Amino acid sequence: MGSIQQEIQELKESRHAVILAHNYTLGEVQDIADFTGDSLELSRKAAECHAPVIVFCGVRFMAETAKILSPESIVLHPSPDAGCPMAEMASAEDVRKYRADHPDTLLVAYVNTTAATKTAVDICVTSGNAERVIAALPRDRKIMFLPDADLGSNISRSLGRPMELWEGYCPTHYRIHPDEIAKARAAHPGAEVLVHPECLPAVVEMADQSLSTGGMLKYVHDSSCKEFVIGTECGIIHRMQKENPDKRFYPLDPVPVCPNMKKITLEKVRDCLRDLSNQVELDEETIRLARAPIDKMLEL
Ligand code: 13P
Ligand code: SF4
Repeated sequence: MGSIQQEIQELKESRHAVILAHNYTLGEVQDIADFTGDSLELSRKAAECHAPVIVFCGVRFMAETAKILSPESIVLHPSPDAGCPMAEMASAEDVRKYRADHPDTLLVAYVNTTAATKTAVDICVTSGNAERVIAALPRDRKIMFLPDADLGSNISRSLGRPMELWEGYCPTHYRIHPDEIAKARAAHPGAEVLVHPECLPAVVEMADQSLSTGGMLKYVHDSSCKEFVIGTECGIIHRMQKENPDKRFYPLDPVPVCPNMKKITLEKVRDCLRDLSNQVELDEETIRLARAPIDKMLEL
């Protein structure tokens, strides 16, 4: 028996499968993936890849998005218990109730929402396109942004556009405290500080840049700076270091970890490919209704 990487490679070929992985997954999972990216890049890949089998290494809403965009593919989610707690903070039922009570308000949903919740909103955004998409919405319409109040408040301030905010948050980014940024700056005075826009507004204010994970990867590649403090989930440093061996990347202290992303292991990837287990199942109506706000986002 060869290495687990070899087993996955052989299974992948026999299944004609494509493996997609989010930037926060374990380094060894990123290394066997055909494509690693942020939520927006992975949505685009899922929509265009037309593979008979897609193994989605990320949290559940991301695997659901792949199924919505590529319904003819078998989409496997190696660890069905890997959910995003923030996505669970806006249930379809509560969002529908809000819509009924506020019929004139546009519902803008971060892509970190369940498929069921997406069926109840007007348009989706990711952290990679939120400002561009929201800036294109009619100025005279009220907006409710859900579920991430921190991301919503960062966008609102940057665009100078008031929005109603749902009371959700990312437990991993919410824990990042301004003191940790100050400490990292003092320890690495020559480094640029990059944070994710899911961080608290007080943290974003202290950073040099606030970017999606894909935006951060592009930024560190293009920058002439050689050192970076990375204020987001630690998994992204694997790819940063691999793609930029001459640069240095420092995580915060304590190191931010998304425990759900870390549930995707090589063993689980192999097992689901071998058994075609853990298939993402969504009914046709959910796919049709949830696809509309994602398509609107991708068209913009
Ligand atoms: P990105 O779209 O920037 O990859 O972010 C996804 C996410 O879940 C951040 O916590
Ligand atoms: Fe969800 Fe936060 Fe994990 Fe991203 S880092 S998947 S928002 S819990």
